[in-house]
Amino acid sequence: MPAQHPSQMVELDAHLGELSPDLFSSIFVASVQALETYGIEWAIELVHQLAIAPALGREPVAPEALLSRLGFVSAFDPALRWLLRRLASAGHLVCEERGGARLYSQPQPLRPAAIAEFRDLALAIDPRNAASLDLLDAAGESYPKVARGELSGQQALLGPHRIALWTRYFHNDNPIYAINNIIAATAVANRLPAAQGRILEIGAGGGSGSEALLDTLGQRGRLSAIASYRITEPSPFFRRRAQRGLTAAHPQLPLEFAELDIDKPWAEQGVEPESADLIFGVNVVHVAQDLAFSLGEALRTLVPGGWLIVEECVRPRPGEAISTEMIFQLLDSFTAVKIDPKTRPNPGFLTVAEWRKALRTAGFDRVEVVPDLEAITESFPLFFAGALCARKPR
Ligand SMILES: C[S@@+](CC[C@H](N)C(=O)[O-])C[C@H]1O[C@@H](n2cnc3c(N)ncnc32)[C@H](O)[C@@H]1O
Repeated sequence: MPAQHPSQMVELDAHLGELSPDLFSSIFVASVQALETYGIEWAIELVHQLAIAPALGREPVAPEALLSRLGFVSAFDPALRWLLRRLASAGHLVCEERGGARLYSQPQPLRPAAIAEFRDLALAIDPRNAASLDLLDAAGESYPKVARGELSGQQALLGPHRIALWTRYFHNDNPIYAINNIIAATAVANRLPAAQGRILEIGAGGGSGSEALLDTLGQRGRLSAIASYRITEPSPFFRRRAQRGLTAAHPQLPLEFAELDIDKPWAEQGVEPESADLIFGVNVVHVAQDLAFSLGEALRTLVPGGWLIVEECVRPRPGEAISTEMIFQLLDSFTAVKIDPKTRPNPGFLTVAEWRKALRTAGFDRVEVVPDLEAITESFPLFFAGALCARKPR
């Protein structure tokens, strides 16, 4: 979110609904803006480093033509498209649509990037922004190697040498990420049955979303509303980490830890139909290989009237680039998914309207958005986090 005039902050408060305005302090708002700008600086830097800038002139050119002209490997295509979109939405390049294709030109020479200055600025706003800056740096430093085919995105970003970077990023001490967990926890706590609630969490990673939920329920005196809480995650490393931390913090709670791949039939993995009152996932459902399939599996697993809560980074406008995507454009798991022009027009993050359509098409009868992102986005285009709460028909 950009720095806002106090009267605009009042306007924002009116759309926060279930969320406390205290979550959106001026430090937090400035951090969001600084990190978004940092991604743009990296895009400028990479366009210079990869010699994309000299290949772009006043004549509009298609990304695929640039890819072959510069000799980049085809796996770099999503990352190149992200660079061009990111710079076009920041006003550094011109993008025009011709026959459904996007073409790019560069009317003015691009200025040098100022990465070090913007890194210092983001750290001065909040030193805890280091977790996000370090991950963006790791991605930026990997782009040239992936473009030249020296490394795959997976090798560059998901090897054992990167684990500490990811665990620091998906952590409640990283304010830019923690907001996702707080929004999810609030939306879940407000929709959990008063008693005997059976919760299923998908893609729980190292458990930062689970931790936020248990904290929220604890603060509300509602931990006894949990009949069972199955915390699932396919990666054994992250699952064990979640299990260690959460069972130590809550030895009295009925927590279960299991593997669940949302791309495969859930019943075959021990998750029975109509066995959950509430399912939630923080920043996981957008990686579903086949979104319609995974939403269908969630619907089957819920009892009638049960809620699926999908907390996600939400794209403000169709096709608009977001700075955190710079990291994920290098990963096949993010980019190589099944596309559907109606319900999933692009890999990765979707707009609220696209989520609504996907959830309705999957058979959910009511969709609520926490906070009211459709009202917020017009005035606050950098408000990216939200929970899509979808109810199974009663
Ligand atoms: C962005 S992380 C979020 C982790 C966790 N929700 C948190 O907020 O700390 C996405 C998680 O989804 C998991 N994931 C990836 N593909 C998955 C799949 N097919 N089924 C279930 N989880 C998956 C990853 O292992 C990772 O832990």
